Amino acid sequence: MSTEEATITDEERLHQRFESTVEHDQRVEPRDWMPEGYRKTLVRQIAQHAHSEIIGMQPEGNWLTRAPSLRRKAILLAKVQDEAGHGLYLYSAAETLGVERSDLTEKLVARRQKYSSIFNYPALTFADIGVIGWLVDGAAIVNQVPLCRCSYGPYARAMIRICKEESFHQRQGYELLLTMMHGSEQQRRDVQDAVDRWWWPSLMMFGPPDGDSPNTQQSMAWGIKRHTNDQLRQKFVDMTVPQAEVLGVTLPDSGLSYNAEREHYEFSEPDWEEFHRVLAGEGPCNTQRVERRRAAHEGGSWVREAAAAHAAKQAERGRAAV
Ligand SMILES: [Fe+2]
Ligand SMILES: [Fe+2]
Repeated sequence: MSTEEATITDEERLHQRFESTVEHDQRVEPRDWMPEGYRKTLVRQIAQHAHSEIIGMQPEGNWLTRAPSLRRKAILLAKVQDEAGHGLYLYSAAETLGVERSDLTEKLVARRQKYSSIFNYPALTFADIGVIGWLVDGAAIVNQVPLCRCSYGPYARAMIRICKEESFHQRQGYELLLTMMHGSEQQRRDVQDAVDRWWWPSLMMFGPPDGDSPNTQQSMAWGIKRHTNDQLRQKFVDMTVPQAEVLGVTLPDSGLSYNAEREHYEFSEPDWEEFHRVLAGEGPCNTQRVERRRAAHEGGSWVREAAAAHAAKQAERGRAAV
């Protein structure tokens, strides 16, 4: 057998092993061989997810100094800190695929990598804090629970912990809204207004319709994705409508109705032109979000330099002591 033939056979064997790992619902680990397309897809998805956690701190972080009570401030602070932690787990998971966190951040601030378009909308009143927890974290849970079974081990394991914290986020939002709905007329109006503004962007969090999502089939074949965008969107609507009824808010969709035959809610199409506009950088807060992230990254460079210098000094001392 020539060397060339042997190489081809080796690569085929690696391919087969990868396929069989995915097929048997086992995990692919960083040391394992994987197709380049699989690695690239994961880097893109995990980086985008990590960036969303970090950028997502901004709309809520803006309300930390204006929270109406010490209790609300402590809850919001804990939630925003959790999101920072999620970003860090996810950057670590991406690094197991051979990329550098600093490189991913550079790409984010240069707008060469994306984050979830939902965070380009402003949080206008404290009711938005409740609605973000209820709808945005609620949608995140529907998106992320299947990722706990993702074929890539480090991502799947990060998601298990993240999902536990997301469920606290969703409940704190819902509890805040329940309290406000039992409050003053103005508070009820604020909640309804926030629901009207966040409902459609929340539905867009699941991505474009299946017919317009060319990567879905490959991601499903690789065991990265377990359900299509439309399936997840339907699940979110089915879960959320009864919760809206308990709250006493109206979801801003005249096409919303229960289909007893399908055992699902029918709902209208989101405005996909708006989705693409926001994704292209023309949402209400895109510039502000990226510029703020850039300023924080640049402003923090002395901390990273000092930490690296300290680590180098410690390592030097360790070597001298041997
Ligand atoms: Fe999160
Ligand atoms: Fe969250």
